[in-house]
Amino acid sequence: MKKLIIAIMAVLSLIGTNVNAKTLVVYYSFTNNVKTIVSSLDTKIQADVVEVQPAEEGLDYAANNYAIGSRLIAAIRNNPNDASSYPAIKPTGVNVEEYDYIIVATPLWWSQMAAPMQTFLFENGSKMAGKTIALIVSSASSSISSTVADAKRLIPGGVFVEPNLWIRSAQVSNASAMLDQWLNDIHYNSVATVVDTFSDNHGDDGRMFDLKGRLLQQEPDAGIFIKGGKKILK
Ligand SMILES: Cc1cc2nc3c(=O)[nH]c(=O)nc-3n(C[C@H](O)[C@H](O)[C@H](O)COP(=O)(O)O)c2cc1C
Repeated sequence: MKKLIIAIMAVLSLIGTNVNAKTLVVYYSFTNNVKTIVSSLDTKIQADVVEVQPAEEGLDYAANNYAIGSRLIAAIRNNPNDASSYPAIKPTGVNVEEYDYIIVATPLWWSQMAAPMQTFLFENGSKMAGKTIALIVSSASSSISSTVADAKRLIPGGVFVEPNLWIRSAQVSNASAMLDQWLNDIHYNSVATVVDTFSDNHGDDGRMFDLKGRLLQQEPDAGIFIKGGKKILK
């Protein structure tokens, strides 16, 4: 029996075995918009979901014309390389090194990434080098470009997929449809599938994409890319 199982596994490995990449969704949410978005996302993909929470409970970041939120963001802006600029967060217990694909979902504060999420990435971003990173940002109306820049500063070696998903507060009720479209746009199901497939055994006619989801005009000479819906290592 044992020999039979080993033989079946050997045959399977020859014809190529799909193995799902491990995905982490890490989010912070103050007024629950991002939480609602992530709850919807959680029904669509297989992922571990982790919430970042400030160590200090009960703070109202929006009170007095956003005074606390504004102070936290200013401290990081003034001294982004100093750990003491970042507000403490509760331990999440997550080891980002275990994941291949990390989706970061965050509110925007004063055009920047919300301070508690910046703390999480300040503490963990250097361990995310080489991982595929996708970004979901919610703001009331401000453009998310500075928040994207924060993510790139805090995860210097990340392989960022494009496009990012921007969901305004007023669009949260439409999050499910926006997430469906976005997961399609970033070719999530293809990128998050690792396939034991080598250049002499790859899929047929499908379009080709790089790991950022960009369409490739021709097959690369070497590296990892997606063809026929499969991840190819060449
Ligand atoms: C401290 C603070 C600062 C904010 N600054 C901005 C801003 O500059 N521009 C903007 O469009 N929205 C701003 N917002 C609104 C949030 O980005 C928006 O409501 C978002 O959807 C909140 O997500 P959440 O409910 O998950 O916390 C701010 C909110 C807070 C609490």
